[in-house]
Amino acid sequence: MTGPSGPANAPGGRLVCQRAWPQRLGQHAGLSPKDLVIANPAHTGPRHVAIIMDGNGRWATQRGRPRLFGHHAGARRVREVVQTCPDIGVEYLTIFAFSTENWKRTQVEVAGLMSLFRRYISKETRALNEFGARVRFIGDRVRLDAKLISLMDELETLTASNNTVNLTIALNYGGRDEVARATKRLAQDVAEGTLLPQDVDEETLPKYLDTYVLPDPDLVIRTSGEARISNFLLWQSAYAEYEFIDTLWPDFSREEFTRLCASYGGRDRRFGGVKQ
Ligand code: FPP
Repeated sequence: MTGPSGPANAPGGRLVCQRAWPQRLGQHAGLSPKDLVIANPAHTGPRHVAIIMDGNGRWATQRGRPRLFGHHAGARRVREVVQTCPDIGVEYLTIFAFSTENWKRTQVEVAGLMSLFRRYISKETRALNEFGARVRFIGDRVRLDAKLISLMDELETLTASNNTVNLTIALNYGGRDEVARATKRLAQDVAEGTLLPQDVDEETLPKYLDTYVLPDPDLVIRTSGEARISNFLLWQSAYAEYEFIDTLWPDFSREEFTRLCASYGGRDRRFGGVKQ
């Protein structure tokens, strides 16, 4: 399988922050994430949050700058969001960095994004590891360049025993592409006789997905005012709650993330059933 390897953290086990982020952010106004967890010891907040980080281009255009300027600003927001997760009980954070459809952008933008990913990984590796983040990548690596793939491999290996937060970065990821790749592998197992067709059910297919070690997302957030899911975690988000917010990704803050997770705690999720 091309997906992430290694076991997920024990279900229900609370993750413990190993160390402070090297560059701790200052005090924030408004709702304190610590207050949120203390006020809510049963922790009804989302365990897995997935984010479609949209609006970098518009953010840059509003400032009269090239789109890549917005992507760089967007990359800088990732750190604060990762850092917030353990404070508010989010154990898994999955972010959509580059979709299988994003190759349709101009060659300049695609090359700039690939260079940004290489720089981001090189620059953030130490900080992510010291924070105790376990980093995984999902998506198809075939179109990515060798240097980027080796940086991704190194980061996954280096952080494999961390457990402060599970950060999954979707890179050249598309939900349909993932299901197609999974189905191909599943079909190979059937052809080789290691899997019987009658044993294929909705528990079987997710074992072939890139996300097979991750729980399904509880909450999917999309920034920038667009209300669509753009091929992100299609299978996995069947019962997720959604938040579509107007904020452009480079303006997304710790406070807004905390507020969205707090409001999730008040929702009544029935997974198709009826409340007793
Ligand atoms: C969508 O905004 C954003 C992307 C296609 C790239 C996302 C990348 C980042 C946030 C930065 C890098 C992330 C990591 C993990 C290093 P858009 O360009 O579609 O914005 P628009 O809709 O305003 O044009």
